[in-house]
Amino acid sequence: MTRPSLLFVCLGNICRSPMAEGAMRVAAREAGLELEIDSAGTGAWHVGNPPDSRAIATARDKGVDISGLRARQVETEDFIRFTHIFALDAQNLSDLRRLAPAHATAEFGLLLDMVPGREGQAVADPYYGADDGFEVTWRDVSDAAAALARRFTA
Ligand code: 4NP
Repeated sequence: MTRPSLLFVCLGNICRSPMAEGAMRVAAREAGLELEIDSAGTGAWHVGNPPDSRAIATARDKGVDISGLRARQVETEDFIRFTHIFALDAQNLSDLRRLAPAHATAEFGLLLDMVPGREGQAVADPYYGADDGFEVTWRDVSDAAAALARRFTA
């Protein structure tokens, strides 16, 4: 079996998807899973930038350092290189469907579809909201990471 490789995709790749990447790296390590893990954005505004300082602070508070990550935009190659692509919200998913080449091999879907009882829900964008939005984001992406670790362990 090819080693699973997971790509998390949001809009800017500076808030939700780098937090998902960080949470998944920890969940995979704790579960002893060898997964390739990355994140990207559908938009290009923040390419090359580190995660938002609020995202870095929230992750650091949970013991996870995401400060070294740098934003990048989704590329055509990602649809071949990764086995699974997880969109953080429905708009991200619809953008992925539009960007996917005909020869895409990755499975893609909504991240919270992986969490029992949360199917169809979005990881809300915390960018323009209050700081505590990042706590909600962390909880959502951690729940998803735990569910994914179980799925790839089974
Ligand atoms: P993200 O949050 O998609 O979770 O990284 C956003 C970051 C930046 C913008 C929007 C959402 N922006 O419009 O610049």
